[in-house]
Amino acid sequence: MERFVDLIHKKKRDSELSDDEIKQMVEGYCNGSIPDYQMSAMLMAICFTGLNDRELTTLTLAMRDSGSVSDLSPVKGIKVDKHSTGGVGDKTTLIIGPVAAACGIPVAKMSGRGLGFTGGTIDKLESIPGFRTDLSAAEFFQAVQSVGICVNGQTDDLAPADKRIYALRDVTATVDSIPLIAASIMSKKLAAGSDKILLDVTTGNGAFIKDYGQSLALAEKMVAIGTNAGKQTVAQLTSMDEPLGFAIGNNLEVKEAIDALHGNGPDDLRIVCDTLAAHMISLGKEIPLEQAEAEAKSAIESGRAWEVFLSMVEQQGGDVSYMEHPEKLPAAPVTVDYRAKEDGYITSMDSEGFGVTAGLLGAGRSRKDDAVDFSAGIVLRHKINDFVKRGDVLATLHTSKEELADAAAERLDGCYGFSDTETEPVRLIGDVVR
Ligand code: URA
Repeated sequence: MERFVDLIHKKKRDSELSDDEIKQMVEGYCNGSIPDYQMSAMLMAICFTGLNDRELTTLTLAMRDSGSVSDLSPVKGIKVDKHSTGGVGDKTTLIIGPVAAACGIPVAKMSGRGLGFTGGTIDKLESIPGFRTDLSAAEFFQAVQSVGICVNGQTDDLAPADKRIYALRDVTATVDSIPLIAASIMSKKLAAGSDKILLDVTTGNGAFIKDYGQSLALAEKMVAIGTNAGKQTVAQLTSMDEPLGFAIGNNLEVKEAIDALHGNGPDDLRIVCDTLAAHMISLGKEIPLEQAEAEAKSAIESGRAWEVFLSMVEQQGGDVSYMEHPEKLPAAPVTVDYRAKEDGYITSMDSEGFGVTAGLLGAGRSRKDDAVDFSAGIVLRHKINDFVKRGDVLATLHTSKEELADAAAERLDGCYGFSDTETEPVRLIGDVVR
């Protein structure tokens, strides 16, 4: 093997790395023969000079192959995975998973926990009493086969190279590189073993990538990787310029998802879910998008998606009575109304700030092993372009300690913008990349 320092030089000068060099880099970093300081320099070089599509695909596949790749072939049908690049109030998997399964698409999904300002599907599901997300491979297959859907936690051997590289990126200011993000996400999606992949690429002030053009570039890179790896991949851009729906926080979001599965709930959540579900169904059934959207709506209206959701909860050990009576879910002992300090139209909402504030209230974790308060979070009363008067309740804070609510209310002061006139409506649904 060439000395790794020579490869760092090469990348620094914007020369291409060969497939062998990239594979040796991933292997060498995982087996400890390449130290952190050299890998950090390489990651920084990639941040500045990038990777072409061949290099990017090779890197992603090497990361995928650093652990085990799920074989979902025992599950009949076209398996479609769905992944969101993260957002605030994003409970879409809880809704569109059952919708797609009710339309006959097997959903064998591995999801993650929340970290930082975005929530994670696994935390939301674990806020349902009894719900298990640590099913064995055999239990996972059995669940998908019997109810059509299972949402399980990510196993430790899913793309372990990504775990090591991500931890290094986190402390070397190399997270915000489009090719590194694309390789990180796609290595896990490809290892999860579905036949096709739908990516919900969020964009805006509550997304991982805030700039629309950069989000589009990320979507294009991920679709190129998926396609090069032989998996049909579609990316839908969706806005995170305000939190999705009204609820932010684990069991608060479960309650909102239950409403949505009954055909109720906030319009923005319904529109995003209909769009994403239509893509999943279109990919899985190989039918036009409009027909798929009609099927998604009918799965909700007929109650079939709700039935599938209940079966999923039961199959994964959750207590279904809480889903039938969501008012039974534990409520936060402290609720405090946060009120408008002026009259006017709400013209901006800093979604990331809402995510951080929900975290302050106990809904999130800042370190991997922190405990999460399932009942903590924020329920919004108003969103962009609503007119409010001074003293109107803008949001209700849910927490276990009064003092946390005080700190959170202070943080929210900076999260709203007001004006005498309305602003452009949020463009919820952006471009599609195929
Ligand atoms: N999510 C990931 O899984 N990886 C990244 O690099 C960024 C967001």
